[in-house]
Amino acid sequence: MLYYMALLLLVLTATFSSPCIDEIVCTLGEGAFGKVVECIDHSNDGTRVALKIIKNLERYREAALSEVEVLEHLNSQDEFKKCSCVRMLDWFNYHGHICIVFELLGLSTFDFLKENGFLPFTVDQIRHMAYQICKAVLYVHQNKLTHTDLKPENILFVNSEYDMEYNAKMKRDERTLKNLDVKVVDFGNATYDHEHHTSVVSTRHYRAPEVILELGWNQSCDVWSLGCILIEYYLGLTLFQTHDSKEHLAMMERVLGPIPGHMLQKTRKRRFVHHDRLDWDEHSASGRYVRKHCKPLKQYMSAKSSDHDQLFDLIQKMMEFDPSKRMTLEEAIRHPFFDPLKERKNERWA
Ligand SMILES: *[C@@H]1O[C@H](CO)[C@@H](O)[C@H](O)[C@H]1NC(C)=O
Ligand SMILES: *[C@@H]1O[C@H](CO)[C@@H](O)[C@H](O)[C@H]1NC(C)=O
Repeated sequence: MLYYMALLLLVLTATFSSPCIDEIVCTLGEGAFGKVVECIDHSNDGTRVALKIIKNLERYREAALSEVEVLEHLNSQDEFKKCSCVRMLDWFNYHGHICIVFELLGLSTFDFLKENGFLPFTVDQIRHMAYQICKAVLYVHQNKLTHTDLKPENILFVNSEYDMEYNAKMKRDERTLKNLDVKVVDFGNATYDHEHHTSVVSTRHYRAPEVILELGWNQSCDVWSLGCILIEYYLGLTLFQTHDSKEHLAMMERVLGPIPGHMLQKTRKRRFVHHDRLDWDEHSASGRYVRKHCKPLKQYMSAKSSDHDQLFDLIQKMMEFDPSKRMTLEEAIRHPFFDPLKERKNERWA
């Protein structure tokens, strides 16, 4: 711990013109909250760790302390260390900067996609990743928490080493990961059932319809986000590419069919509604944009096979408009899409 503090002094006082400081610290990422740096823990056999350093501002400090509480809870319950939620190793308050020490992981699934030219993951890769994410988030839900900010940026590969191969047909280099294990990170916005639920949560593209309509939300909003993540892995691109809530709802209708009337009747966001339907003009500029950029869900399938069918069946059930009818993660992990993983396991233990 003293060691981290000394390092921190270095980090906080150093200028960040160079990404690496003294060969022992690299910036892994930066955000509104502060930054994450990689450190070598000499007090622990040179183990490499990720240190999240939060800005000395009340609102970020509060979110960080809430993240610490959630991680202490999740990590302590997780006796067998099997859960694919990131592990917190330590934390401390350094002159108002909350600092959280995490196990070091690899690139986020978003950064990997980006560095790989947005080449989609294969269905087999998605199956492996999706199963781990579903199990991790189910564990979060079982602990009376909702993550609220699931997105490809918050799913990290445990190790993002890859093999590079030249794809002659596409005329480009392609990266193939050696290991597809992933973990869920960023519990700064995770909310307990008994806590105040802010009206709007999630990063826009992964935001559930009930959140946009301000109808209240719970664990099921994470399941919607997961559906958006899985299709993004399949396409390599974000499904709902928009910055406007009404356009977002129109995109959802284009992909998934009409929003149930009872949801539109209940919303206090009256500007979205006209005669119990989404107030939308298909022939406006925005209407044409939506028609051009989105299509009915099944039309995104790039191959007709039972694997692809199963994946799309899972995604469709995760992207059910009505949160009371949406699949739960308990149901998701029993979906036939994941059967091949279980068969393989059974063979090994047979
Ligand atoms: C998460 O919490 C932080 C700090 O309270 C806040 O600034 C941010 O907007 C929240 N993020 C989302 C996606 O709601
Ligand atoms: C979440 O909300 C929906 C409808 O609002 C409800 O049907 C469902 O049971 C709730 N789920 C949990 C885990 O409380």
